[in-house]
Amino acid sequence: MCGIFAYINHLVPKQRKVILETLINGLKRLEYRGYDSAGVAIEGRNVSPTDDKKCHTSRIIKKQGKVKALEEEIAMQEDLDLDVEFDIHCGIAHTRWATHGVPNEINSHPQRSGENNEFLVIHNGIITNYKDIKTFLLSKGFTFESDTDTEVIAKLIKYIYDTREDTHLSFRELVESAIVQLEGAFALAFMSTNFPGQCVASRRGSPLLIGIKTKQKLNSDYVPILYKEKERRSTNPNPETLERSASMSNFEIMGESKEAEYFFASDASAVIEHTNRVIYLEDNDVAAVQDGCLSIHRIKKEEGDLMSREVQTLKMELQQIMKGNYNYFMQKEIFEQPESVINTMRGRLNFDDHIVNLGGLKNYLLDVNRCRRLIFIACGTSYHSAMATRQLMEELTQLPVMIELSSDFLDRRTPIFRDDVCFFISQSGETADTLNALRYCKGNGALLVGITNTVGSTISRETHCGVHINAGPEIGVASTKAYTSQFISLVMFALMMNQDRLSGVERRKNIISDLKRLPDLIKEVLQMDDKIKKLAEELQEEKSILLMGRGFNFATCLEGALKIKELCYLHSEGILAGELKHGPLALVDEDMPVILIAMKDGTYTKCQNALHEVLARKCRPIVICDKNDAEMQRMASRSIGIPGCVDCLQGILSVIPLQLLAFHIAVLRGFDVDCPRNLAKSVTVE
Ligand code: AGP
Ligand code: GLU
Repeated sequence: MCGIFAYINHLVPKQRKVILETLINGLKRLEYRGYDSAGVAIEGRNVSPTDDKKCHTSRIIKKQGKVKALEEEIAMQEDLDLDVEFDIHCGIAHTRWATHGVPNEINSHPQRSGENNEFLVIHNGIITNYKDIKTFLLSKGFTFESDTDTEVIAKLIKYIYDTREDTHLSFRELVESAIVQLEGAFALAFMSTNFPGQCVASRRGSPLLIGIKTKQKLNSDYVPILYKEKERRSTNPNPETLERSASMSNFEIMGESKEAEYFFASDASAVIEHTNRVIYLEDNDVAAVQDGCLSIHRIKKEEGDLMSREVQTLKMELQQIMKGNYNYFMQKEIFEQPESVINTMRGRLNFDDHIVNLGGLKNYLLDVNRCRRLIFIACGTSYHSAMATRQLMEELTQLPVMIELSSDFLDRRTPIFRDDVCFFISQSGETADTLNALRYCKGNGALLVGITNTVGSTISRETHCGVHINAGPEIGVASTKAYTSQFISLVMFALMMNQDRLSGVERRKNIISDLKRLPDLIKEVLQMDDKIKKLAEELQEEKSILLMGRGFNFATCLEGALKIKELCYLHSEGILAGELKHGPLALVDEDMPVILIAMKDGTYTKCQNALHEVLARKCRPIVICDKNDAEMQRMASRSIGIPGCVDCLQGILSVIPLQLLAFHIAVLRGFDVDCPRNLAKSVTVE
């Protein structure tokens, strides 16, 4: 995830400093989407007042860190004439959340086609086939300066431009030729010195919208979609005529002049201060601004395609836009999980041939295969993700698996050997306890693997290899989508370790086909939000909540209890149902709220026993169970039925009702859900 912003002024004179301010302010609004580095590109025909169209240049300014650092960097550019005025200008800007290549200046966006900045691109998403494109371009003599997946796009366009037969190919057509080669997810915006004042943008899987600002009224609230085939068929083959005829049907501004400003942005928060008139692009739309006209194209017509895109009038407040349709970042992040789990699997899991390829680990697989044990070290929620996947890890790797809380691991000075493989799981990648444990293990010669959500974080830098979970930035202090993405990353690792074993084929297939269904299953669970809110209303006055489960769902109880503690400031404990008789049962009476997780897996009968035990103490348990388990639902006083799936993934679905429950109780109690008291998102002290 990251923020994309582009600004085009057509016949609306703007000084360079205003253009830069507009770009920087746009990025500031989008910073919550990603903030490890930022960059802008502006056009530069002010070099000499006599410059003609052929002498366009562009200038890129990039900086590691937050948008503020970029702003300071821009202020330090002594040779930048800030007073020069442009009647027509295009600028693009980006705030990054790295997926490929550490956050540094070279890897930040815009990425470019070559030293003269001929084609520039900003990108949100992941290009999964970038290695193939890179190999091809290397064979054509291109050299690469960054470690990003994005750079191939700028260079691919340059290649298409240099080898084109039709010299009248428009900027938009070039972009179309490039993006058909791309696999993965993207929102892209391009500018080029060959097409000054123009901007082309497209999306597939990542969000993108266009803000429109005009003095005069728009001639329509609908922008017609143009198709390549139709253009070609209905017009003279002469490309110049073609281009003109296409723009005739474009969306034009009413009246004589075509004064207009356009904004491309990842979300409306960046454009709302300029205009409330926006068009949300659909996947595979290619939008182009040329000569003040906006046109929207699609490469091929598909069934169900709408004929136009509507210009909508936004009525939302800024804060509201940043949080989407949600009131809190945490809530938004819970509801993002159908999408974030896809991003974790993207380009790594082939659902057809059931192959897992974790690029960041593949060169170390031999070492991992030779190790004596796997040790997972983490704190809080990240620790729970290791707990949740331990059983599968043991089953698929056939190795002893140790799970350690970072602080305790260090207190014990646990013996570590050269043939140990130590995993450090951390959303932020900066947690001090986990980092100290990492350095301790490094001193003992173990292989270090990082599982983090933050590319370029200390943990991802100091480990030998690892997996970025790609959940996108998590702003709410309480971890939610990072947990499910850590969970899936660990499942993928276990699957990869088992890949060569014939005996595991069926098991792997079952897991992978349910990973494919996971986004839909998560959506189904999220639909129970209202029901869970009602439950939260019942529980909001409680002093303590006990959660219990076993097997694959024990970790869910620990994680659910942690969410309730940190958000609701209310005592909550997750216990192994098998331990009930060994102590906690003494707590249980008619007043004790108990939540039991009982899914139809190998522990089901034992969970039923636990249910009977608490029922016998007049307890009125709430049960999270399979939606088709009528018997369990009948016995429980209240139940949450979730869809069933393969046992080892059930924990992803069972944790979501608990995330929602903790969230709703906290809201009802009037607490700050995104920043609970006494806690920080990144715990960088011991
Ligand atoms: C999660 O809700 C908590 N805020 C906390 O337990 C967190 O998971 C823990 O501090 C570890 O953080 P990390 O994943 O960034 O290392
Ligand atoms: N994959 C791109 C990169 O790592 C874009 C990431 C983003 O969306 O910020 O540079």
